[in-house]
Amino acid sequence: KMAMSVAALALSAALFAGPALAQKPIVIKFSHVVAENTPKGQMANKFRDLVAERLKGKVEVEVYPNSQLFGDNKVLEAMLLGDVQMAAPSLSKFSRYTKKLQLYDLPFLFENIDAVDRFQHGPAGQKLLQSVSKKGLIGLGYLHNGMKQLTASKPLRVPEDARGLKFRIMSSDVLAAQFKALGAIPLKKPFSEVFTLLQTKAIDGQENTWSNIYSKKFYEVQPYITESNHGVLDYMVVTSQEFWNGLPADIRAEVKSALDEAIAFGNQVAKEKAKSDKQKIIDSKRCTLIELTPAERAQWVEVMRPVWKKFERQIGKDLIDAAYASNQ
Ligand code: LMR
Repeated sequence: KMAMSVAALALSAALFAGPALAQKPIVIKFSHVVAENTPKGQMANKFRDLVAERLKGKVEVEVYPNSQLFGDNKVLEAMLLGDVQMAAPSLSKFSRYTKKLQLYDLPFLFENIDAVDRFQHGPAGQKLLQSVSKKGLIGLGYLHNGMKQLTASKPLRVPEDARGLKFRIMSSDVLAAQFKALGAIPLKKPFSEVFTLLQTKAIDGQENTWSNIYSKKFYEVQPYITESNHGVLDYMVVTSQEFWNGLPADIRAEVKSALDEAIAFGNQVAKEKAKSDKQKIIDSKRCTLIELTPAERAQWVEVMRPVWKKFERQIGKDLIDAAYASNQ
């Protein structure tokens, strides 16, 4: 009698749990390190909202900004462990997964974001989305942030001005080589630590986009910004193969189209913020903007360009040529 009632209990529990489990939405944790009022922050929120609209009850996106869930150095490991499903690290943060994406860090390779966009939409750029696939990740698309500027505790007009200064960099050997070419000291540090490092003067400078400099208040602790546009900071939206391939095909297609729309929106935000956040920094009068003359800029190019040669073998000359050609 006892055995029967246990069986009956188990049966009713199974009947109860069955439909309840089936109704539980698939959760996509989207982890990123920047503020919400940035291209990436806005893209992630738009993606969450589109999914909520179209896949209600089936899929739910939870966005964790500001390194709340994982910082730069942990998120991809966490993704492979299934602790987070999506992220969009900067292209400079994939070196443990592929050397090919180092391409994007080469100084003065792309003249502007339009050139980056043309390259990314071409065959070579699209193929690079698969460069992380051997490591269990899938590149779902690119997202723009913008061109990088140099901020520092002193005015930087010519390369010589950077000599001996400590710069925070993202975890990229190309960026390390770029600052070493200046005779400066590069330090690989997570994004979440940059403000404090600058504020306490543990470092003298850093490179970033207008929207990151503005939204993280770097301009409040850096008296000078040099408008160098010397490199690009863009992102790859990634997920794990295990998660992505485990989604039902119809759901996967809907999630992908919501993501594509969110990325298009984020790219628009990137374009606007490169202008408006720059203007807000100027209007704050907290720091001095240094614009380079063509002759000064030529000096930075001359000192930094030899970095290309150092990484040509790892990246591939064909790829570098294809990227450079996108400047038209
Ligand atoms: C940085 O670390 O400076 C950037 O990659 C942050 C970001 O995600 O834009």
